[in-house]
Amino acid sequence: MAAVVTASQKVLKPHLLIKGGHALSGELKVSGAKNSALVLMTAALLTEGVVELANVPELTDIQGMAEILGSLGVSVKRRHQAIRLQADNLNHAEPPYELVNGLRASFFCIGPLLGRLGHAKVPLPGGCRIGARPVVEHIKGLKALGAVVNVEHGVVTASVPGSSRRLKGAPIMLDCPSVGATETVLMAAVLAEGVSTIENAAQEPEVQDLAKMLNAMGARISGAGGPVITIEGVERLNGCSYAVMPDRIEAGTFLLAAAITRSSLRVAPIIPEHLNAVLQKLRDCGCKLEIENQGITIIPGELHGVDITTQPFPGFPTDLQAPFMALLATAKGTSVITEKIYENRMQHVAELQRMGASIRLQGNTAVVEGVPQLSAAPVTGSDLRAAAAMVLASLAARGTSQVAGLNHLDRGYAEIEGKLNSAGTQIHRCNPELA
Ligand code: EPZ
Repeated sequence: MAAVVTASQKVLKPHLLIKGGHALSGELKVSGAKNSALVLMTAALLTEGVVELANVPELTDIQGMAEILGSLGVSVKRRHQAIRLQADNLNHAEPPYELVNGLRASFFCIGPLLGRLGHAKVPLPGGCRIGARPVVEHIKGLKALGAVVNVEHGVVTASVPGSSRRLKGAPIMLDCPSVGATETVLMAAVLAEGVSTIENAAQEPEVQDLAKMLNAMGARISGAGGPVITIEGVERLNGCSYAVMPDRIEAGTFLLAAAITRSSLRVAPIIPEHLNAVLQKLRDCGCKLEIENQGITIIPGELHGVDITTQPFPGFPTDLQAPFMALLATAKGTSVITEKIYENRMQHVAELQRMGASIRLQGNTAVVEGVPQLSAAPVTGSDLRAAAAMVLASLAARGTSQVAGLNHLDRGYAEIEGKLNSAGTQIHRCNPELA
């Protein structure tokens, strides 16, 4: 999405015009989970059979992954929220750099390619705006399963020595409960010879969703969702039909949209256990929550400050740190927010300050003093969740804000303005290049 330079040299990027002060009402529908759908799509590389995924969100990241799998020879057929994948004609194990470069999750391909073919060559995903994001634990895990792994010229080359080209089951202890490393090792170990264990594994719901789908394909995985996962390798896996779980981060963002506009709203579908830490903070800051029938109705009361520290699941998710900060910028009193997962995930602070928020930043800790009301301003979301925080702050601000950074927002929120407007907001998408 290119920018347009106006006669007065003003640079106009695609943006949302958001008129603040409109309450939300009714129900907001949650899409399938981006961070689950992406890894489930790569798991289709593990079988010749057909993998039919349902409830797949329509996002730019999903489109990116579909192109990467297509480039490896996977047949990919999309129809709205359904994708049919078949890797019965894999013609190589090296996704092209230009496709991988834009999508970190593409590195997830290395596990299933190595497990299925015995070799893989995948560009390093590299860092992003929120942190260095190394893949040391991924590589350590693959080596423990018997792979020879080299990193040269920004590319990770992995292969299994020996005629069988089959990985060997092994115990793996992760130094940090990395979601990506757990998913990569899981997908490599399901076709290995013998038993593997992953200790200090990530417990995120996305890891659980992956394990559930792999077991539906014939894998033998136990313990997903806990700190130790056991995988008994099998010879081969079948195809399956599987529905992606609801997106807990999108659900959390919608609950926060209601809270920041002081609106009562129902959000569904939600699996409450996927958001316990967030729901507790919403209650602590003054919201009433009615949980029933795969949905949550939120009724905000008078809101006050709470302290938040991001942690691996089941702790408070880093992906809702920025959206929750936008809310706490409008809540009475002081909140201390500490980011423990990424080293550089506080860039939304400056933009919230531009809207009149009172925030002091000390390293990865933000001290937020709530203000009665934010004021509209032109702001930019510097990454996916920062962009979501800008949308929320604008919903509560006095006046009309201009929110840029849609290339980030569209990676993780399917038609967000359509959904929010269906609940009562006034958001308009502007694409200067089309004007
Ligand atoms: C997944 O990223 C999500 N992305 C992220 O969501 C999410 O923030 C993250 O998990 C944590 O919940 C997808 O699933 C596509 P990690 P991932 O490996 O797997 C460090 C969003 O907004 N680490 O658990 O890359 C790493 O640097 C995105 O949707 C190592 O030190 O996350 C980071 O600080 C953003 N060494 C921390 O662990 C390693 O080898 C968590 O990373 C691997 C990771």
